[in-house]
Amino acid sequence: MTSSIFTAFTLPNGQVIKNRLVKAAMEENLANVEHLPDTVLKRLYKAWADGGVGLIITGNVMIDHLAMTGPGGVVLEQDTDLKPFIDLAQLSQSNDTKIWMQINHPGRQVFKKMGGKVLSPSDVALDMGKHSAMFSTPKPMDQTEIDDVIQRFTITANRAEEAGFDGVEIHAAHGYLLAQFLSPLTNKRQDQWGGSLENRARLLLEVVKSVKAACSDSFAIAVKLNSADFQRGGFDIEDAEQVVKMLGELNIDLVELSGGSYEAPAMQGRTADNRTLAREAYFLEFASKIAENVSVPIMTTGGVRRYDVAKQVIDNGMHLVGMASALALTPDLPNKWQQDSTILGHIPIVDWKDKTLSGLATMALVKQQLRRIGSGKSPNLSASPVWALITDQVRAAKLTKRYKKQHKI
Ligand SMILES: Cc1cc2nc3c(=O)[nH]c(=O)nc-3n(C[C@H](O)[C@H](O)[C@H](O)COP(=O)(O)O)c2cc1C
Repeated sequence: MTSSIFTAFTLPNGQVIKNRLVKAAMEENLANVEHLPDTVLKRLYKAWADGGVGLIITGNVMIDHLAMTGPGGVVLEQDTDLKPFIDLAQLSQSNDTKIWMQINHPGRQVFKKMGGKVLSPSDVALDMGKHSAMFSTPKPMDQTEIDDVIQRFTITANRAEEAGFDGVEIHAAHGYLLAQFLSPLTNKRQDQWGGSLENRARLLLEVVKSVKAACSDSFAIAVKLNSADFQRGGFDIEDAEQVVKMLGELNIDLVELSGGSYEAPAMQGRTADNRTLAREAYFLEFASKIAENVSVPIMTTGGVRRYDVAKQVIDNGMHLVGMASALALTPDLPNKWQQDSTILGHIPIVDWKDKTLSGLATMALVKQQLRRIGSGKSPNLSASPVWALITDQVRAAKLTKRYKKQHKI
């Protein structure tokens, strides 16, 4: 295949993405006290639109303010003021850029300090070794809670369309609620929502069907899915291929393939089952295998910071290529590559002995750059991981306090 990074791609629903480079979802923790995007987020998204990506996928937006992946998260519910979202969509659409909202429910991946609802298919707590106390044991969901989640995904998607977004991406990767239903390690149910792969995929498929029914055909619907959990006995590549086929039957517009969870952060290039990921384009091998046998367009995200690697992803049969960290450090990397394809993007890698702390420090470094861009400053490519981690923890503690007080948790 010879299609280039800078050619347009038309999705099954007719939506045209001007090039193949996508800003993948990054939770910024930069919402205001009412969980709404304001000036800082708008400036950040405008920088990405001006920087030349074809599509921006927002950081995950929560469908329930009482179930948050972290403090300072954006929430879009039935009664939320839509104006800040309308403004964000409009700004992001400058330079012929498309913007999709990623929508998510954390399930059991809620920090104990945050509190709120901690739901999951079964009562399996996170195993983070000596850091396990950061999370509580979740409550197995009853039918009413399952129905509520389907309805909330639908409402958020519908309102995203009302606000002028071009699509939604339903987050079913990285160990969040929909991924918890997919994985036999976290889904021990014996009813219609657990057991066989068909049953474990039911919630995701019901969410997709409901969202599709509530939105117009021109509004893109995508799913972020793990190519594998990279844990022994977890959701594997064969499962992923089957689920992509099921999603294809629902005529969705794109599947983004990633991998891992809080327990096994493969999206940061590390696995828990000793399988080795490529040093760059971590999931390309898995995604290429899946793409061979399915018709739905595929994007893969993880470890891309060089033009040659992005091109390799497209040449290997992917339709779009996602980048997160590299665009936090260099938001105009696509424009730069159009001038000079040898320019290197950056991805911070922290390699401390404590892998959990390394992961947190890497995230903190990236988030620090998102805050800098949002405040009109340039990213700091040589920031200290220790300092970034401390600042991030202090900031998170303040925002958590604010959240708990506001919602009386
Ligand atoms: C600070 C930060 C926040 C992230 N937040 C999200 C998120 O909200 N939703 C999501 O699907 N992935 C999230 N990710 C994962 C990225 O989308 C991506 O899958 C991962 O970083 C690997 O891509 P990269 O190597 O290009 O960074 C986040 C990553 C980082 C670094």
